[in-house]
Amino acid sequence: MAAAGFGGIGGTTVPHGPPQIERYRKAVDRILVLHGPNLNLLGTRETSVYGTIALSEIDRQLKILAEKEGVELTIEQSNSEGELVNLIQKASGRYQALLINPAAYTHTSIALRDAVASVGLPTVEVHLSNIYQREAFRRHSYIAEVSVGQVSGFGAYSYQLGLLAAIHHLRTKPQKT
Ligand code: DQA
Repeated sequence: MAAAGFGGIGGTTVPHGPPQIERYRKAVDRILVLHGPNLNLLGTRETSVYGTIALSEIDRQLKILAEKEGVELTIEQSNSEGELVNLIQKASGRYQALLINPAAYTHTSIALRDAVASVGLPTVEVHLSNIYQREAFRRHSYIAEVSVGQVSGFGAYSYQLGLLAAIHHLRTKPQKT
């Protein structure tokens, strides 16, 4: 007879074993974080607008917060619109939410907008700068229309606020029966 045991999922110890015990397993939410074009240059890029924090440090802070909150993160950066579309398409069924800074594609990309709409994952849009205080062309977001919400203007902290917002959304949204 198989014995019930305890195994780690995303750092959390949860029971595993025969089916009658499996139902107690707490599913760990997985969140995909996408950084758009030029965000790989954070730290040296337009520091008066974006600050001096490097993308690797933003990612490190996000991972610490994710671990504290008991969620799993996958983080990707791409300068290519098509690659971002592919990553969003592949997220379907693998992740429960999407946290995205689409960077310049925010203001131009119907393809990204359609990808987010197609997979139907709850999406939180983040920006380091306050896009509504900047040039007129930055004041429209194609992604906002298909997102749960947007965090804009808090520098690197926008990402942490965005991650907490995504987790809050997952934990409070009505369950499908
Ligand atoms: C940005 C704002 C965009 O307008 C810009 O193109 C970026 C970064 C931000 O995080 O503030 O690359 O998304």
